[in-house]
Amino acid sequence: MIDEIPLCNAADLVNSGDAVPFDVVYCGQTIQAFCIRYQDQVHAYLNRCSHVPMEMDYQPNRFFDSTGQWLMCATHGAMYDPQTGACRGGPCRGGLTKIVLSETGGVVHWHTAHNLKSLEF
Ligand code: FES
Repeated sequence: MIDEIPLCNAADLVNSGDAVPFDVVYCGQTIQAFCIRYQDQVHAYLNRCSHVPMEMDYQPNRFFDSTGQWLMCATHGAMYDPQTGACRGGPCRGGLTKIVLSETGGVVHWHTAHNLKSLEF
């Protein structure tokens, strides 16, 4: 069963601006994820570089490079396409893991999947 979990207000995300972080359980492991807006569309990925599985932000919630066109890993500079998570340069080994989102009524939701669940409290 797929759940749609409220994540943030749509207005919290501006094009190429700061991300909104959230936690998920991916394949049984608690991992941070992040949501960004790029060219008016929202996108979310696990905050885990494909080069070395570590968090990518160089300052909290800052993922875009100085051009605002690419998501960049702070550790060794891997670059990812904000729309797909595909590798666009640097030492990445494949793309980012994408999380499905929806944006309705001014609210952004993320969607669970067979290997992606919300934290249980
Ligand atoms: S850990 Fe991200 S580029 Fe090396």
